[in-house]
Amino acid sequence: MTSKPALRTFDAMPSVSSATLAEARIRIPFNRPAIVGRELHYISKALLAGHSSGDGPFTARCQALLERDLGAQKVLLTTSCTAALEMAALLLDIESGDEVIVPAFTFVSTANAFALRGATIRFADIRPDTLNMDETRVAELITSRTRAIVPVHYAGVGCEMSALCEISRKYGIPVVEDNAHGLFGRYRNRPLGTFGALGTQSFHETKNFTCGEGGALVINDRALVDRAEILREKGTNRTRFFRGEVDKYTWVDVGSSYIPSDILAAFLYAQLEARDFLQARRRTLWKQYEARLSAWAERNDVALPVVPDHCESSYHLFHLVLPTPDARQRLMTHLRRGGILAVFHYVPLHLSPMGRRYGGQPGACPVTEGVSDRLVRLPLFAELTDEEQETVIDAIEMCPL
Ligand SMILES: Cc1ncc(COP(=O)(O)O)c(C=O)c1O
Repeated sequence: MTSKPALRTFDAMPSVSSATLAEARIRIPFNRPAIVGRELHYISKALLAGHSSGDGPFTARCQALLERDLGAQKVLLTTSCTAALEMAALLLDIESGDEVIVPAFTFVSTANAFALRGATIRFADIRPDTLNMDETRVAELITSRTRAIVPVHYAGVGCEMSALCEISRKYGIPVVEDNAHGLFGRYRNRPLGTFGALGTQSFHETKNFTCGEGGALVINDRALVDRAEILREKGTNRTRFFRGEVDKYTWVDVGSSYIPSDILAAFLYAQLEARDFLQARRRTLWKQYEARLSAWAERNDVALPVVPDHCESSYHLFHLVLPTPDARQRLMTHLRRGGILAVFHYVPLHLSPMGRRYGGQPGACPVTEGVSDRLVRLPLFAELTDEEQETVIDAIEMCPL
């Protein structure tokens, strides 16, 4: 583990921070991707080593670090979390007629990766406290065609994995954890992403650790490792060839191009090396929001994030659930006028045009529907200064709800 790296702020890198005109009046953005200091050094090392394609030395370093920290059988870097989810669908041989259970409150990729293989998507509602897939609503969605359960550790707080793993065992249905938010979060002291047969990570610009666009597939079932390497290498056994296990490589299965450039892995490695520092800073900011906003929240009937005692968050998001959609709009507008960008998500997936094709109906997932138009996310990123956070908190407290 590394000590605190030299922090370079975005202000020192004008070409990276050039905002769109619309954002120019924003003084405190929703997110500013961290630059921890060694990214450019490692990128130049990757370039000088002459290995800019995938599976170079930095990819190996990132994978080894994640395998060690998570205690996973195998970690493979991918071009995105979406790509890792697509690999999961291929690995589980999802096909037309199969059903996959996802939460209604999530990003499209959680469902789309399986829809792409022809699966029918079944939407589970979420719990009102953690906003995670409601484990008590999963069994009723299971049919003889269910082939996967895909919980999302929303905001980096673990789903009720004891119950979900029990359902998985009872019905013989694999779990794929969409852990886009939750790297280094823990449930009952075990790392998120290591409960299911497979877990997927995101290194998109908005995540705690980033390389712009990137992801990883965490493989916890040893039986899936060899085929995962093939699917990721365009359906070839090139990974075995590079290890000297076969004397030529050839087309052996379906697959696609899921391997990121080693230049991106170099960027990511700098970030992962700084994981203690980045996570500690996010934790401090998150705890500060919680401590400073709790009385205000109580007075105004606003729900703060809930982290059960047996969960250690990855501190990916700090969100508020306002009492009404109008109150949320007032708060977002008030903050925007003060130069602060707070944003919402997700539009309920079962009510999207695609979701409706799978039978999604208003009223089917009432918690998701009730929360999604009242939730707002506050700026939370490692380089947010104490002063900036004070500005956000003061602005919230001044807002007439
Ligand atoms: C829950 C969830 N899953 C998957 C993704 C997709 O991640 P990526 O952009 O790395 O493909 C996101 C993106 O924000 C997400 O929030």
